[in-house]
Amino acid sequence: KPPRVVFSGIQPTGIPHLGNFLGALLNWVRLQQTAAPEDELIFSIVGWHALTLPQDPVALSNARRDMLAVLLAIGLDPQRSTIFHQDENPHHAELAWLLNCITPMGKLRRMTTWKTRLAASRNANDDSEVDESLLNVGLFTYPVLQAADILAYRATHVPVGEDQKQHLELARDIADTFNRTFKSDSPVFPLPEVVATPTRRVRSLKDPSSKMSKSSPDFQSRILLTDTDDQIKSKIRGAVTDSIQGITYDPVDRPGAANLLDILAACTNEDVLEVAKRYADKGHGHLKNDVTEAVVELLKEPRGEFEKLKGETAYLAEIAQVGATKARERSEDVLQEVRKRVGL
Ligand code: ADP
Ligand code: NA
Repeated sequence: KPPRVVFSGIQPTGIPHLGNFLGALLNWVRLQQTAAPEDELIFSIVGWHALTLPQDPVALSNARRDMLAVLLAIGLDPQRSTIFHQDENPHHAELAWLLNCITPMGKLRRMTTWKTRLAASRNANDDSEVDESLLNVGLFTYPVLQAADILAYRATHVPVGEDQKQHLELARDIADTFNRTFKSDSPVFPLPEVVATPTRRVRSLKDPSSKMSKSSPDFQSRILLTDTDDQIKSKIRGAVTDSIQGITYDPVDRPGAANLLDILAACTNEDVLEVAKRYADKGHGHLKNDVTEAVVELLKEPRGEFEKLKGETAYLAEIAQVGATKARERSEDVLQEVRKRVGL
């Protein structure tokens, strides 16, 4: 089997919540543990993506540094993986421009994520209310930047959440268009594949019909990686469930209990139905206690590491610099080839 090139990114938009951790970041750590030695792992903090929505400059600057500390704290190893800030490798922006020039408006208009993001940023629920003429071009075209992030390293495997699958389809489409438009002996880009995350979507603790999200104004609805044991305990104790006796795994009719079971299964790396069986004749209080214990245990080490690392600005700056250099050197060959193909 040829070595895999794995690329994934996360926006520096605040301390990750349990959904980000179980749905994305923990997966990165597990990939690092299970990948073949030849596999290349590239993890990027994508600051340019964060700018597609308004950001307070001071908050962004802090979030950017915090996210690097988080990635190290959860166990990503800068020796094994390339960990870097997207905005410190200009090749992403250069390639995004070239790809923008071969991507039809119509394809971007079909993406639903910009509508959702815009609606979320305005606290509106109705996608149809989005006024396209007010849309920043950056938000509209950010799937192309995402394609560039991936293709700049000729990545073959991309772990993404469900909400991002259509972007990966677009990245494949753009790669294929480029390969066919600028044909030569061999295609420039491999078509990247999705690596599905085993974890189900983590739901809001307060409104289990929606996902746990950093954009919710209700702080009790999400658990942050940096929450204290007491905060975790009180948030889970306050999680919305139902009044039905006993526990069953029923995401449609009992989303609150299903969410707790999903969280527990993800923490212990078990099948959720197996977990559900153990709680068949137990109450929500019992389940909540066990979920609390599992989440406290899961976050204990990352939180401690983060607290240690976040003040070490010189160390973080050095790690960032090493990562950026590695990333730039890695994408330089690809960009040289791409420039040549398009005639620059
Ligand atoms: P948010 O929705 O809180 O703004 P992002 O969109 O920045 O989070 O997502 C970062 C990563 O975390 C993505 O890979 C996304 O799929 C994943 N993710 C976000 N929320 C959840 C969730 N509730 N459950 C599982 N994964 C999630
Ligand atoms: Na989101």
